[in-house]
Amino acid sequence: MAQVTIIDPAGTSHEINVENGTSLMQAALDNGIDGIVAECGGACSCATCHCYIDAAWVGKVNEPSSIEKDMLECVIDPQDNSRLSCQVFVSDELDGLVVTLPQAQY
Ligand code: FES
Repeated sequence: MAQVTIIDPAGTSHEINVENGTSLMQAALDNGIDGIVAECGGACSCATCHCYIDAAWVGKVNEPSSIEKDMLECVIDPQDNSRLSCQVFVSDELDGLVVTLPQAQY
């Protein structure tokens, strides 16, 4: 379990408790947080779950797969800290993680 802060496109911070093994995408949807579309349901094939990992946490989240890296080329305004939130999985080590959602997913 980790406490994660998700900042939605309007700038509102949501502090949520997330079970280990849950993706950030699923956690955001489960908590009714706006800003994620997740058209493919987490299959890493739509790139509508884009998020930005806070700089302090970039090296602590699980590494992106080659498929995720390819899909990240499809997002609007990609940054070095861009990830697909369906591919970032929460663990105890991520307690305190901060994630920002982009202004638009497509
Ligand atoms: S939900 Fe489709 S790529 Fe993440």
